[in-house]
Amino acid sequence: MSMEKVVKPYGSEGSKKEQVRTMFDNVAGRYDFLNRLLSMGVDISWRKRLIKEMKQYQPAHIMDMATGTADLAVMAAKSFPEARITGIDLSPNMVSLAKEKVDRAGLNDRVEIRVGDSEQIQSEADFFDGAMVAFGVRNFEDLEKGLQEMHRVLRPGQPLMILEFSKPTIFPVKQVFNLYFRLVLPIIGKLFSKDKKAYTYLYESVQAFPDYDALKLVMEKVGFKKCRWHALTFGICCLYIGEK
Ligand SMILES: C[S@@+](CC[C@H](N)C(=O)[O-])C[C@H]1O[C@@H](n2cnc3c(N)ncnc32)[C@H](O)[C@@H]1O
Repeated sequence: MSMEKVVKPYGSEGSKKEQVRTMFDNVAGRYDFLNRLLSMGVDISWRKRLIKEMKQYQPAHIMDMATGTADLAVMAAKSFPEARITGIDLSPNMVSLAKEKVDRAGLNDRVEIRVGDSEQIQSEADFFDGAMVAFGVRNFEDLEKGLQEMHRVLRPGQPLMILEFSKPTIFPVKQVFNLYFRLVLPIIGKLFSKDKKAYTYLYESVQAFPDYDALKLVMEKVGFKKCRWHALTFGICCLYIGEK
């Protein structure tokens, strides 16, 4: 078990994993809408950056962990017309929406979505040519275990790419970000989603999460090589890359 502070959506009752599953089941219907609204569309550019970095590895089969409503999985399938994508997520409601999205995009033949746990991946070792996870690792119950699993299922030399919120350090981005994330975002989240806690959890979980070099260290600890990170949008988000 890794040592990071455990922040759970609904307090002490029940495991983080159960609470995270419940929370995403609750917000699933409004998830895409709120993502676009709260990030003002910038989240799309972050996913595009990940795909751009993935291109150099020419992946034939990519695993998208914590795929949510499959935004990244669909973007990857469109960007790599020959590739297969497997997306897994804990939340059955997110998975149903993801499947509908894949269906609407006509990508059923190359994109498979299923309920699954990133900390216990149903796959043989050395199988995928790329692994990616957008805004998922912060929600893992055991970060190290999740990263170890991604390492296990990747073929040697192939990349893991992680997008995650980080804490900006520069003035005045840090101050504006804190105000927005701590005060504005929970109010909008509460208004539009059916879950009062979800967007408070978002702020608290970002605060507790190891970012920049701290996450790079955890990636190295579980065996990833050539680990590096790129700060995006003044350090609000960060793209982490490591190779098996
Ligand atoms: C903030 S959403 C991100 C979804 C998507 N990747 C995106 O970029 O929009 C986080 C997702 O992680 C999923 N999740 C959390 N822990 C997980 C785990 N251990 N295994 C698989 N999915 C998990 C949640 O169910 C949720 O759908």
